Amino acid sequence: MITCETLVLPPFQPAGQGLLCDGVSVPAVIEEVGAPAYIYSARAIADAYRAIDRAFADYPHAIHYALKANSTLAIARLLRGLGSKADANSAGEIDVALRAGFLPGDIVFTGVGKTRGELEYAIAAGVGVINAESPGELDRIAAIARAQAREAAVAVRVNPDIDARSHPNISTGLRTNKFGVALQDARAIYRSRRDTAGLRFVGVHMHIGSQITTAEPLRRAAATLVTLAAELRDDGVPLRHIDVGGGLGIAYDGGQVLTADEYAAAILPELRRLSLPVVLEPGRAMLGHAGALISRVVDIKRYPDGRRFAVLDAGMTELMRPALYGSFHRILPVQPRAGSFTPWDVVGPICESSDVFARDRDLPPLEVDDLVAILDTGAYGAVMASNYNRRLLAPEVLVEQGAWRVIRRRQTMDDVLALES
Ligand code: LLP
Repeated sequence: MITCETLVLPPFQPAGQGLLCDGVSVPAVIEEVGAPAYIYSARAIADAYRAIDRAFADYPHAIHYALKANSTLAIARLLRGLGSKADANSAGEIDVALRAGFLPGDIVFTGVGKTRGELEYAIAAGVGVINAESPGELDRIAAIARAQAREAAVAVRVNPDIDARSHPNISTGLRTNKFGVALQDARAIYRSRRDTAGLRFVGVHMHIGSQITTAEPLRRAAATLVTLAAELRDDGVPLRHIDVGGGLGIAYDGGQVLTADEYAAAILPELRRLSLPVVLEPGRAMLGHAGALISRVVDIKRYPDGRRFAVLDAGMTELMRPALYGSFHRILPVQPRAGSFTPWDVVGPICESSDVFARDRDLPPLEVDDLVAILDTGAYGAVMASNYNRRLLAPEVLVEQGAWRVIRRRQTMDDVLALES
């Protein structure tokens, strides 16, 4: 049976007066900011960053934090302070990265379907490298760079047709996925454009998926990329790096997953065949465990067959992952009541039947107004929130060195309606 102890991983720890985040009282924070709210541990983010940095310590590497996992300014600044560089997936993320103090040259710009406007912005800003998704995009980049009298540093994103063995909605490396160019076309694409004015080919790129929990797909992907890079070197393309993307998973259920050390051990032997510096784009592995969504029980319902629902004040509008991927998140009462664990359906308030956080989850007794913590929601939580049902974005709180501060206040209806006439 699941108990409170097995439900908890640092940085969120149970205590007599209620859940603590690195020693800071979660109920006390919620007393001030209200629920629902996201709370993050700066220490946990730093620990996760350093674990990856250490794992690659004896190989030339750059960590480009994937901002899409959580791009709140204070989080971006925290990672920059730790020495991270940035992976941006849109003009908006480039803008946030620059405002957070990342140097343009420290930003890689990735993403399917970059608009002309985004490319113009990225090239004018002087981003470090654009990971191009197609020959057509390379040609647009070249034309824009020439029009700006610049040269754009580019890499081509290759689709190696490797199954990341993750959820299909977050697997990107199969030939049925929309991402990158086919591996067999890649060499010809570099060859045919290597002398194109406006382009400077500096790397090769791939990202086969997210929440990857086994080493083999990542090793195979790295091996494929290194082989391609070696061919390109033979063709005389002066590559400066190999970008293996992100994808390192975390243990949402407390099970066994790939550690940063195991990840490094899997791909470094492949990388050493060429010894080109590696670019890493981790997102989830740095933020996932560091955050929790704190929510209040607003209603308890019981059906005649015995099924019980705890209805929360957070739903798929605050945390979309369970509705979108059927993903598992541990749920923990902030101040557990005495009593035996029994199965609960923990659901949100949205009028969608997929607005469910957990089914038949063994939890201690719950009552209206109790707080629960939905764990491991630091990555792809707040960033994927929406205003559906005219709900207001939840605040985000950062706990750092025993103190806490609001890093994004709760949205107001005036904020939302400011866009409307
Ligand atoms: N690089 C590229 C090009 C990416 O597309 C992604 C994520 C990353 C890096 C970072 O991947 P990570 O290390 O975080 O796995 N919303 C989904 C995840 C979507 C990931 C999209 N791309 C979720 O909640 O699971």
